[in-house]
Amino acid sequence: MTNNILEIKHLVKKFGDFTAVDGISLEIKSGEIFGILGPNGAGKTTTINLILGLLKPTSGAIKVDGIDISTGGDKVKKMMGLMTQETVVDGDLSARDNLEIFAELYHVPKGEIAGKIDEALNEADLSNFSERQSGTFSGGMQRRLTLVRAMIQDPRLLILDEPTTGLDIQNRVSMWGHIRDLTKIGVTIILTTQYLEEADALCDRIAIIDHGKIRAIGTASELKKMVGAGRILEIIFENESQAQQASALLKGHFKLSPNVKGDKLDAALEKWDAKVLPEILAALEKKKLTVASINVHLPTLDDVFIKLTGSGMRDSAEETHVSARSNMFIRR
Ligand SMILES: Nc1ncnc2c1ncn2[C@@H]1O[C@H](COP(=O)(O)OP(=O)(O)OP(=O)(O)O)[C@@H](O)[C@H]1O
Ligand SMILES: [Mg+2]
Repeated sequence: MTNNILEIKHLVKKFGDFTAVDGISLEIKSGEIFGILGPNGAGKTTTINLILGLLKPTSGAIKVDGIDISTGGDKVKKMMGLMTQETVVDGDLSARDNLEIFAELYHVPKGEIAGKIDEALNEADLSNFSERQSGTFSGGMQRRLTLVRAMIQDPRLLILDEPTTGLDIQNRVSMWGHIRDLTKIGVTIILTTQYLEEADALCDRIAIIDHGKIRAIGTASELKKMVGAGRILEIIFENESQAQQASALLKGHFKLSPNVKGDKLDAALEKWDAKVLPEILAALEKKKLTVASINVHLPTLDDVFIKLTGSGMRDSAEETHVSARSNMFIRR
């Protein structure tokens, strides 16, 4: 017996000549919160649609609770609940009616529907708004409604496609609490995200995907150890040409391997020794390279992403400003 709720082997999905999912294999244990972290277009939604059986794979196999989804039919589909990337609630209907339609769609027994809906409204902190048209809800309220709606048929595997994209930081953190609560009742959760800090704060294990491939998989701390550095040095210069010159200097004199993006330079410091900072600053000063800002920090998942792909997650994410801002609040 395996305690894997999901097993994916060599999954490939092509759209014409384009390969959106390029040989993904992974196993998800019962009860964990598993994060699929990747920038726009990485293949997150496609992977999810394949797991749900909404798309047919080009090749590869998916088993949910040991059952192959290509032959498992409704039995497998009923085990899974989905919160879609776009919030799709019927704005003309009340929160209660939105949940009721879903309950009927998923054949929740008639006698259980009212109780389930009360429970769901309570979990989503929407009990006081149950009769209000959901179109009048804030973004956060609508996302919470879609979250509990995905739970209405008691799925064992709950799939959340970017549950917090577009939410402000308060709503995002509150959503994390609601998601964590669900694991207490034994649900396994797969969520996709573009937010490094979300994967870090919420997920037991994380797969970093880029261009349809898994680049790394593990707990947040295992992934951070992959950077193999005591600290990350980050320097912003007056312009890109200065950053390039500084990069050459740090390579030559300090045996570092910097990454330069625009006016910003990142470099891993294998062994942290505070004495190296004044030495670096003096060397830069000597070459008349003007430091606009300098910072040293413990490796984050962003550093892992840079190490794996050569560019920052946020450089490719659409909502750069939101991500960077929220990172300031909760960087750990
Ligand atoms: N039906 C389709 N036909 C052609 N190309 C597609 C189709 N669906 C997705 N793609 C392409 O596959 C790639 C992966 O898309 P996918 O929606 O899985 O990315 P994602 O990681 O969910 O991104 P986002 O964070 O923007 O939601 C993208 O380049 C996308 O344009
Ligand atoms: Mg998507």
